[in-house]
Amino acid sequence: MRLINRREMLAASAGAAALLAGSPLARRSAFAAERPALPIPRELRPGPNGEVRLNASPSSVEFLSGVKTPTFGINGPYLGPAIRARSGETLQMRVHNGLAQDLTMHWHGLKIPGDVDGSPYNIIRPGANWDIALPIDQHAATCWFHPHVYPATAELVIKGLAGLFLIDDEQSDALPLPSTWGVDDIPVIIQDRHFNSDGAFFHRFNLAAVTTGYVEDVALINGAVYPQAKTARGWIRLRLLNGSNARSYRLAISDDRPFFVIASDGGLLEEPVRLSELTMYAGERYEVLVDARNGNPFELVTRPVSQLAMNLPPFDTDLPLVTFVPDGADGRGRLPDALVPLEPLDVNLPPVSRNFVMNMNLDDQGMKLFREAGLMAMNKSGKSDAETLRKVRALLYDGPPLSLSQQLSANAVNGKSFALNEVSDNAPIGVNLRWRLSEGDDRMLHPVHIHGCQFRLLSISGKQPPAHMRGWKDIAPVEKGGFCDIQVAFRHPASRQYPFMLHCHILEHEDSGMMTDFTVS
Ligand code: C2O
Ligand code: CU
Ligand code: CU
Repeated sequence: MRLINRREMLAASAGAAALLAGSPLARRSAFAAERPALPIPRELRPGPNGEVRLNASPSSVEFLSGVKTPTFGINGPYLGPAIRARSGETLQMRVHNGLAQDLTMHWHGLKIPGDVDGSPYNIIRPGANWDIALPIDQHAATCWFHPHVYPATAELVIKGLAGLFLIDDEQSDALPLPSTWGVDDIPVIIQDRHFNSDGAFFHRFNLAAVTTGYVEDVALINGAVYPQAKTARGWIRLRLLNGSNARSYRLAISDDRPFFVIASDGGLLEEPVRLSELTMYAGERYEVLVDARNGNPFELVTRPVSQLAMNLPPFDTDLPLVTFVPDGADGRGRLPDALVPLEPLDVNLPPVSRNFVMNMNLDDQGMKLFREAGLMAMNKSGKSDAETLRKVRALLYDGPPLSLSQQLSANAVNGKSFALNEVSDNAPIGVNLRWRLSEGDDRMLHPVHIHGCQFRLLSISGKQPPAHMRGWKDIAPVEKGGFCDIQVAFRHPASRQYPFMLHCHILEHEDSGMMTDFTVS
């Protein structure tokens, strides 16, 4: 294996960034042949008795040419299949742990009982199988699955364990949406990675990690660097998953054409919402329709994000993530005027009964390091100088690891860092609740996720959520110094043995204490 050194790696990303600065489409014709095809995860439909088999195992992938990166994958070398289920059916899941370490598999976004949720309490030992019946009891949605071992979720996901979990129902069947998998219905899993000098994915809990989360410098789409996809000519449906450990994206189309959001985390919206830019936080999903009836190629780009350390090169400019070339056969889907009726919000919702406050215990130290390195000044001036970049990268990727006890106490919810088997909270089953999720230190945004439910956002720091965030959500963007109020109900029980989790979906925050759990009865 050829080893690349750090300088070559940086030069490679700088070179890529320089290439990307030119006209994207001119570049496409020049470089098309050298670019990888967008990998399309295989659809995995349940067998005749509802069987679904997932096998997590170690592997390796050549993401950068000539360099083998050790990975974990599910039924393949990296990422997993797209499980495709129907509302009303029960899946007989078998998850095999082919790794040499503990695993769980969490069904993110599914409204299921706590004992099959795949939380840190559902450990699968190395070599063991986890056999469960998974009742699918919710509307059509693009959900996903990933491991949830405490405190190893960040590591397991970084190495490649994640996949889509698609649910169809009669309402989605009845709509004329593009739905030919990989042709006009296209999964787009966005992740960022940093490659160590030996080609391995960066993974280290240092002070920067528990502060910003992993903020990496290479974008992977479905596991490929800047791929291209041939698609149908017509309306294209993109099923977007921000599968990154921490990073947020501001997505747009290269030629500024608008697109239409049709679904959020937990299902279809009432009607399509026209946007020219879409922000996605870690763990979120949106489905969008793009008008590609004229057959012109377009690129999905991400614009600079103003969160701490998220606008370092190559994310300091409009960065193309994937090119679509819609010159195939005519697509059959179209953009409907209306989608599905959404339950009206509960007008008799009780007042806020819980306030979950995200706390950071080590952020003063983390912020101090970034300030000393010049990151804040660099952000303000908008100019990145080489020396500051070098220092900030050194903090992110070379900073010494924390001890395990420092890691586990770095962050908290309501002042308490997560600990297994100390469940102290309970939510009543089957009633609408008003909960508040807030940020306690005026430091940074936390995408907060709750298991066992889909909720509705009532308020983002006192403001009405934008139209595309008024449908079903399982992640709420809790802004710096702000809060989100939600309407939530739990339809399935969760016992003390298998409680539901509430946590920041910046996986490095989750793995360093910013998580809590509760029973439902
Ligand atoms: Cu996507 Cu508790 O996780
Ligand atoms: Cu979840
Ligand atoms: Cu967080």
